[in-house]
This record gives sequence, structure tokens and C-alpha cells, in this order.
Amino acid sequence: MNDLRGENILITGGAGFIGTKLQKELASAQQVVVVDNLHPQVHGFLPLPVVMAENATFHRGDIADPDIWGEVLSGFTPTMLIHLAAETGTGQSLTESARHSHTNVHGTAVMIDALHRASALPNHVLLTSSRAVYGEGDWAEPSGQTFSARPRDALALENARWAPLGPAGQRGKPMPNSAARVSPRPTNIYAATKLAQENILSSWCQSFQVPLSILRLQNVYGAGQALDNAYTGVLTYFARQAASGETVEVYEDGGIIRDFVHVTDVVQAILCALSAPPPATQPRTLDIGSGTHGTLFAYATQLAMAAGSPPPATSRRYRAGDVRSAFADVECARREIGYKPVVPFREGLADLMEWAHQGASK
Ligand SMILES: NC(=O)c1ccc[n+]([C@@H]2O[C@H](COP(=O)([O-])OP(=O)(O)OC[C@H]3O[C@@H](n4cnc5c(N)ncnc54)[C@H](O)[C@@H]3O)[C@@H](O)[C@H]2O)c1
Repeated sequence: MNDLRGENILITGGAGFIGTKLQKELASAQQVVVVDNLHPQVHGFLPLPVVMAENATFHRGDIADPDIWGEVLSGFTPTMLIHLAAETGTGQSLTESARHSHTNVHGTAVMIDALHRASALPNHVLLTSSRAVYGEGDWAEPSGQTFSARPRDALALENARWAPLGPAGQRGKPMPNSAARVSPRPTNIYAATKLAQENILSSWCQSFQVPLSILRLQNVYGAGQALDNAYTGVLTYFARQAASGETVEVYEDGGIIRDFVHVTDVVQAILCALSAPPPATQPRTLDIGSGTHGTLFAYATQLAMAAGSPPPATSRRYRAGDVRSAFADVECARREIGYKPVVPFREGLADLMEWAHQGASK
């Protein structure tokens, strides 16, 4: 599956959490080129020299800067493009929408213009999109009838009415995210820009007959995720608190549902998708999760037990733009690319806690 001989792979955002793990699996590729601006929110303000795989070259630059593309594409023609670079702050994006749009939307457009200008169209483009595009997603009434949940407004959240309602005010239980069945309805700017990336790349790839794989990732976790970035990676943030002996504070009533997929499984999903490109005329969108889900309170409890820290506590605080429930139906990814998540949460948890303890001792 990982035979990438002869491939020239371009990874944007390749120095980040997922990109660093991915690079290590690309040893059989002819060449790997990474473009990353080492964003201070992810890498700290004094980034260390970036460690690249042996066959990889690093360009420090902003994907929204046309000049970086002149440098990257002089003498290098990618056969595969993996587009990871993004601003990823969910709540933050609601008040810093220009920054999120600049990188995620404008940056994607600058990148494809540069590829076209350099006559460097790849044979396959892969975008890591997000489950965030679904917003509150679909819910089911007791009768089995499904409905699109309305975004939760500030008044509802202020009054601790956590569960989203249907258009007629009906209640229900959450259904899995599925590209085949659920329409995207973003509830924050980050999500809207991820959907815009999907649309921009779909239009461009179909026009130029370039196969496109879109992977809508659930919450990715594991060692290597920035520990000090409070704007992203809720589990990592919890782990850091637990490793410091603090009580983990869980928002709302603790009942937010998430699907935490280990970064190893996400890297496998990317490799599976790369090895089976879709037809150029039909961009493919797949949901990537762990195959399981649970409440944040339950996950926080497991972390606290593993760390020996006090049990988590719920607060009535909430974060604007957050959704109540998100988990993936991974069946389509299994059928189409052979994706099979293999890291059970207890194993992933050990990996995460070791990483968090390293961070806590610094
Ligand atoms: N981690 C998750 O839970 C998750 C979930 C769903 C989707 N995703 C998507 O996966 C991708 C990678 O996520 P990650 O967790 O590795 O994030 P990350 O923040 O660790 O990595 C992103 C990388 O992009 C770089 N970057 C940011 N802005 C840039 C710019 N303007 N120009 C060049 N480089 C830039 C950063 O320096 C960083 O190294 C993102 O597109 C994200 O939207 C991640």
C-alpha cells in the first residue's frame, strides 16, 4: 500500500501535527517537499529547526504568498499534493475570521494558481477537511425520522439548553456524520473555510481533470499535537491539565459527544486514499474517525484516572461555534479505500499522556 516509488509529494503544513507523522511514512517516495510557515500558535515563537525525513526538503513560507510558490515549484513538479496547511482555531475563527479566511481560502487559491502557472498539476490532490463542516449535523426523532439540527444560539447556551433542536423545535438523538447522507452546515468560520477549501479544490480539480480526495477528519489526537495551543485539540488540552495534576474542566454539562481518532489511523487513511485515487471526474469525500465515540466527560475521566489527577468537573461554560455531537460513519472509507482504524483509545491515551507528561515537566 505504501509503495510511493517515483512519486514527488508536496505537503503544505507538513511540519505540523499530522504532517510530521505523515512524512515518516513517505520514505519510499522519490521526493517530499514541505511548505510550512511554522505558525507561532502551533510551533511557539522560537521554532526549533524542523526535523525532516531524509528524502524531504523544507521551505519556510506562507501558502498565501505567491513568492514562496516560485521558490517551491522551480525544478519541482509534484505528482501528489497533500494540503494540510490551515488556521484551525474553531472558536477563535469567529473573531479572527479574516486570518482564517486568508490562509484557508485565499491561501488555497494562491496555491492552485501557482500550480497552474508553473504547469505543475499533480496527478492526485488530497485535502484534509474537517467534521466541522457538518455543524450540528443530523439528529433522529424517536420515530426514526431524521432532521437537520439548528445551530444552538447564545440564548439557548446561556440557559444551559445544550441539545440542538430541529426546525420545528423537535428533539432527537445524534446521528453519525456521513458525506453521503448529511449536508454540511458550518457553525463557525473555521468550518466555513474548510468547506470553501473543499469547493475550491473540487471545482479546480474537475476543471483540470485532477483526481481529488477529501478526508473529513474527526478530532485527531496523539503525541506531537501542540500542548500549549488552547484553541485546538481539546483532548491534548485536557491531557496537559491532567498531567499537571489539575482538575480538568469540561464545558457544558460534559455531554458533548466526540470521536477521537488517533493520528496513526489518520496517517493510514491518507496513505490508503493516496494509493487508490478516485476518477478525475468524481471528487471523493470520506469520513475518517475511530469507529467509536463518547462524551467529553467520559474521555476526561479516563485521562484523569490515567494521570492520577482529580476527577474532572463540569462547568456551565461553553464555547461559541462548538457543536454538541460529532462522530463519523467510517463504512464508506472502509469500502472505498480499505480504511480500518486500529488504535484503541486506551493505547492512544497512553501515548498522549506520555507526551503530556513531557510537556508538563518543561
Ligand atoms: N487535528 C485535528 O483534530 C484535525 C481535525 C480535522 C481536520 N484537521 C485538518 O488537518 C490539517 C492538519 O491539521 P494538524 O492537526 O496537523 O494542524 P497543525 O496546526 O498541527 O498543522 C498545520 C500546519 O500548517 C502550518 N500553517 C498554518 N498556516 C500556514 C500558512 N499560512 N502557510 C503555511 N503553513 C501554514 C502550521 O505551521 C502547521 O505546521 C488542517 O488542514 C486541519 O484543518 C485537523
